[in-house]
Order: sequence, then structure tokens, then C-alpha cells
Amino acid sequence: MVSCDLLIENAMLATMDESERNALPYGEIANGGVAISGDRIAWVGAMSELSSRFREDAASILDAKGRWVTPGLIDCHTHLVFAGDRAREFEMRLQGASYEEIARGGGGIASTVKATRRATDEELFSGASKRLSTLQSFGVTTVEVKSGYGLDVETELRMLRVARRLGTEHPVAVRTTFLGAHALAPEYVADRSGYIDLICETMIPKVMDEGLADGIDAFCEGIAFTPDECERIFAAGTQYGLPIRVHADQLSDSGGAALAARVGAVSADHLEYASEAGIEAMAKSGTNAVLLPGAFYFLGEEQAPPVDVLRSQGVSIAIATDLNPGSSPINSPLIAMNMACVLFGLNPEEALCGMTRNAAKVLGMSGDRGVLREGSCADLVLWDIDHPSELSYWIGPNPCGAVVQAGVLKSS
Ligand code: NIG
Ligand code: FE
Repeated sequence: MVSCDLLIENAMLATMDESERNALPYGEIANGGVAISGDRIAWVGAMSELSSRFREDAASILDAKGRWVTPGLIDCHTHLVFAGDRAREFEMRLQGASYEEIARGGGGIASTVKATRRATDEELFSGASKRLSTLQSFGVTTVEVKSGYGLDVETELRMLRVARRLGTEHPVAVRTTFLGAHALAPEYVADRSGYIDLICETMIPKVMDEGLADGIDAFCEGIAFTPDECERIFAAGTQYGLPIRVHADQLSDSGGAALAARVGAVSADHLEYASEAGIEAMAKSGTNAVLLPGAFYFLGEEQAPPVDVLRSQGVSIAIATDLNPGSSPINSPLIAMNMACVLFGLNPEEALCGMTRNAAKVLGMSGDRGVLREGSCADLVLWDIDHPSELSYWIGPNPCGAVVQAGVLKSS
């Protein structure tokens, strides 16, 4: 018989489970309960259907007192590990310089690369650790972390080791992504293909020798890499079975969405300038969209991603913070959800789905995370709210009351 280590009772459940019988918005179950056994959800449903054995056997019981419970939030696109900040560039942009002009002038990603190369492992870890703790305080239980501020073999490896260490020292699930193709390394300005060779022939094999990456990403953009260059890199990643992500069509229509579809990417991220044909191709290849409203907001962009086309094509939409020092210094998943609603026209249910069920798809964790369902990992959040739309509504306050991470209750 399945043991019950923790029973949460008298909760309003936003299961986010589309297979949920009642098919209410948010997969709602009023006056519900969740029985947890080890790190798994053993039962979820209405209290009226709770089997007496779960209640009798429960090692501990948490009365949610009518509070809302959702799956743990999943931030599926971050650049959490970096050194320094780009506040001076923020000032320059406010005086009229564009993100692209700053990047072409040697600032932008390159300036964070300088700071990151200089930082010790301990400095990288402690900065990222603080940011991760903040995300966790807002209910994040799974986070993706990219490399891409090293752009040399050793610093890319160091960033990914730090990301792995975050997952062992924080009670949070960490997925790592190798992003050696974030920008051209300064040593290779006159030898683009030399840098691509370095990525394919040296960085990827070394990263995979140490088991440091769960996925591979590239920035497909005028100021970064062409679709052809990205394709070479993805081909090398595919040899190791790495799922592909693409920074696609953020600042211009660079053919990123079509590229993502062509290479069978699990996601195309940003997509402000994605063409209709690109989105149609994504729909056919089953490529997920990841929208990053923090970068859109912070860069003062004017063209929003084609959300209506994504919807009509049935492309799954995830939302993430894109937490990074240059384009999205946003340390809150809830603010990203608010921005997705206000700036991109999502509704609060789509925004929460984008930070739970749909984000799990992007990280290859569909069904296991991002939903409250029997057999899923017991990652969930108790919120001090009257309705889940509030998660996208408040700007700043933190209604996170308690988090259960892999079956362990962290605070209440
Ligand atoms: O996702 N677009 C490329 N990469 C980041 C920006 C990184 C930076 O400016 O440091 C992004 O927005
Ligand atoms: Fe990014």
C-alpha cells in the first residue's frame, strides 16, 4: 500500500491538468486535497473522494484552509549565472543608444563575458545562488540555466558546473543548457568559422564528457549567428542527443522560427519578429514557443510576438523570466506573467499555464512537472490569494505562502 507522508487538505486546487475530468479553467478542483508519498503525488482530488486510508496513514497533515495550490512554477529560460551588471548600459539606452548599437560597440553580452571570465567560481556561484533563492521565494521549483557568458572553453565549463552545483545546493530542479553560441568570442572576430569549430569540436565534447548540459541553444540574430551557423552547432549537439533551443527572431526576422522547426527544436524563444510562415512551421514540427516579456519590456521593444498566430496554429506557449543582466534583469516569475498579460495579451490562465504545464514541455518534463496529477513529482505551491488570476495581477507583492519541493514542505 502507498504510504502518505504529507496530506494537504481543504485546498482550492489549480491542477493545470488538461486531462482533469471537470475541465474547468485552471483545472480547478474546489475543496480538494493532495496526498504525497515520497517525492510523488499519490492522489489528487476533491476532499469528498479522499480515501480514509490516506488520512489515517498520513505522517503529517497540512490544512490549506481554503488557500490555492498550484504546481511549482517552472522558469524554463534563464541566464542565471553571470558576473557584474549592465546598469551603465541601461543609462546609455535611456539616452538613446540601442541594444544593438551597444552590442556592436563592444558592450552588451561581451561586457558580461569580460566580468564572468574574471570572476571566481565562488563569486559566480554566490551571485547566481542569491538570484535563485529569490526565484524560489516566488514559488519556482524548476529552473533552466544557460551558459553563454564564457565563450571560451574553460569559462563555459565553469558556468555549467556552477549551474549544476546550484541544483545540488538548492532544493530546486535545475536543467542546464549549453549556449556557447550566445555571441562571437572576442578572440574570433576575424574568424567566425573558427569559433563555430571550437564550439563543435572542443566545447560540446568537453561539456558532454562531464555531463554538464541537458540541452543546447544558440542566438540566431544579426548581432549573433546566422541560421546556417546555428545549424552547424545544432548538428554537433544532436550527435549527443541534446534537445535544441533557439533564441529566435528577438530583434529582427532572422528566420529563427523556421530554423527551429527545421532542426526539430523543442523550443523557439522570444519570437517578437517571427513570421507567420515561421510559426506555421513550428506548429508542424511540434516546436514550443517560449515568450520572454521581460526582455521585450526592458529593451523598450514595440513589436510583440504574434500571439494570435501562435494560438490559431495551436503552438504551446511557455513564459519565462529570461533573467539576465543585459536585456531582462527581472528576478520574479510573477512579474514576467504580469508582463505576458499586459504586454502580449495573454490571459492569466495562459500565463500560469506558460509557467507550469507548458514550461515543463520545453524542459522535457511534461506530465512529471507543471501539473498536479497522480504520479507527478510533488512540487507545489500554496498561495495567499483568492483566485489564481491574482498571480498575474499583483506587481511586486509575493503571495507565496509555502512550497513543497519533491514532497518536502519548505515553509508555511
Ligand atoms: O535572451 N538574446 C540573447 N540573450 C539574452 C540577452 C543576454 C544579454 O544581453 O546579456 C536574451 O535576451
Ligand atoms: Fe535568453
